[in-house]
Amino acid sequence: SHLLVLHGPNLNLLGTREPEIYGTLTLDDINQQLKQLASSKGFDLESFQSNAEHELINRIHQARTDGVKFIVINPAAFTHTSVALRDALAGVDIPFIEVHLSNVHAREQFRRHSYFSDTAIGVICGLGAKGYEFALEAAIAHIEK
Ligand code: DQA
Repeated sequence: SHLLVLHGPNLNLLGTREPEIYGTLTLDDINQQLKQLASSKGFDLESFQSNAEHELINRIHQARTDGVKFIVINPAAFTHTSVALRDALAGVDIPFIEVHLSNVHAREQFRRHSYFSDTAIGVICGLGAKGYEFALEAAIAHIEK
């Protein structure tokens, strides 16, 4: 698998979770769209969601073993808390783009700090599920260049 999409805690609730903030698409909808987009460009894509920090960390470690070329990650609430996830991404040395559905800069102050942004290739927020598609296109361009 060439591309990995990681979703952090509570994103399994997409579709019904605060739809005015996060939209009405489910996580399955988003994952299917991304898989289709990737395969139309000749890439394999796997998605993984967990509410547990250690499972996301283990999946990042596995990505190196699997030869994953690029990661698109929405760390969700771990964005604002997790040095461990940040270190995992640095440890496997796989380039990544950080995505948020909502505009984290237009919400509570605590959402404005990210443990990921300064080591990301890029950051997309506030564009809803489309943000994942833009990130995927940028990921593919990055791999192909
Ligand atoms: C989020 C923004 C985070 O602040 C929040 O904790 C989430 C989702 C987003 O996609 O907008 O769970 O990452």
